[in-house]
Amino acid sequence: MSHFQPVALEHASRLINHGPTVLVTSADGSRRNVMAAAWSMPVEFTPPRIAVVIDKHTFTRELAMASGTFGICVPGAAFIDHTYAVGSSSGREMDKFAKYGIETVQGPVLGLPLVETGCAAWMECRLIREPHTEDAYDTCFGEVVAAAADSRVFANGHWNFDGSNAGLHTLHHLGAGIFVPVSNQVRAKPL
Ligand SMILES: Cc1cc2nc3c(=O)[nH]c(=O)nc-3n(C[C@H](O)[C@H](O)[C@H](O)COP(=O)(O)O)c2cc1C
Repeated sequence: MSHFQPVALEHASRLINHGPTVLVTSADGSRRNVMAAAWSMPVEFTPPRIAVVIDKHTFTRELAMASGTFGICVPGAAFIDHTYAVGSSSGREMDKFAKYGIETVQGPVLGLPLVETGCAAWMECRLIREPHTEDAYDTCFGEVVAAAADSRVFANGHWNFDGSNAGLHTLHHLGAGIFVPVSNQVRAKPL
């Protein structure tokens, strides 16, 4: 049973505000793919816009440019091995969803392959063409047109990381396959 619930678009930036490693999903016709990306961030609240570095040599970049869309999924700690695997192999040679047994759901607006099992959240994005930043910095921009999150870890517009949902704690890449999952939340007090 899925615990995913829609996230209001004005809250979509919060899904990656804290810099988790994400999965970038893509599809064009019968071709589909997924890769890991450590470099993504929100760039605008309303309309919700994000940036993600997608190297020009990746199959993901080819599919995103061909379709004008991409998905962002936020893997949980229990999905660490899958996350590293899809970041260490190319979809040009195989269907990584099938190879690594990654279940997909179809995005409601753009029809993109999205991952719920093992992930804490997802966004469907329409590519905003910016040829200069794409070419010079491999940085691709997208407008979020749909978002959802697992209500056990993100509800009412906020993350709730605690001991009850450790498998859904987001992953932060230190390099070379070493990740740190988010830990206890702490709240800043007014000084
Ligand atoms: C943890 C992790 C983070 C990564 N972050 C990025 C990133 O931010 N941008 C990028 O272009 N590639 C990144 N990569 C590399 C791609 O995931 C990798 O090149 C992948 O094989 C591309 O797959 P594709 O050719 O199927 O699209 C990362 C890899 C790992 C393991």
